Amino acid sequence: MKATSPANVAIYRWPLVLIITIIMLFVTYTAIRAMSEAYFSDGFPEALAIKVELLPLIFPIHMVAGGLSLLLVPATIYLRRTRFHKFFGRIAAADILVAGITAPFVAWAVPVTIISAAGFTAQSVAWMGLLAAGIWNIRNGRVKAHQTCMLLMAAVTSGALFFRIFLALWARFGDHHYFNDFYALNAWIAWSIPLVAVLVFHRLRERTNSPA
Ligand code: HEM
Repeated sequence: MKATSPANVAIYRWPLVLIITIIMLFVTYTAIRAMSEAYFSDGFPEALAIKVELLPLIFPIHMVAGGLSLLLVPATIYLRRTRFHKFFGRIAAADILVAGITAPFVAWAVPVTIISAAGFTAQSVAWMGLLAAGIWNIRNGRVKAHQTCMLLMAAVTSGALFFRIFLALWARFGDHHYFNDFYALNAWIAWSIPLVAVLVFHRLRERTNSPA
């Protein structure tokens, strides 16, 4: 049987489909949880409960818009090359603007540490900056540059997931004395690691695909 025979392709495809399904279920769960926390934030730790009290409108808006972005960004990428891409893209862009603009207000309201607040602010600037660059490129007909910017923007979005994964791992295995240090580090690495990983992967793929 040839390596590229339909049977072989099906065997290789199943694990990939399974992994993507698990990731999408996790993303959907996080998005729904984020949006519901806007209404049910009673279980929040002290540091976040204060923010809800200080920003009773802005913080819930951030949570709902942030949660929605986790669904809208992958949906828009999935729908590329269909007539729905533009429609979803516009809604996603508006939603990211809302989540991104509200983020620094939430970050600087009684911050856990100044370094964590700076990390969240840098993330929102990178997020909206990549979105703006993506829109500017497509408006000027540069499809490839648009794709690259949006892939990088999606990587920054995934920071919201990695932040929670790293936090859960820390809660399980970390030393609670150093929580503030870890929190500050997490606010930077949760989005910059996926951003750099996607950038490196993208460059390598471009180099492999470009003619010698
Ligand atoms: C990508 C740019 C984002 C930035 C810069 C950002 C920033 C922040 C900040 C600063 C806080 C308060 C935590 C603190 O100050 O210690 C926060 C909390 C929160 N954010 Fe975002 N956020 C972003 C994206 C998202 C996304 C995509 C979601 C969707 C899950 C989201 C959902 C939430 C929720 C639910 C909270 C409440 C606390 C929690 O559940 O951890 N945010 N965000």
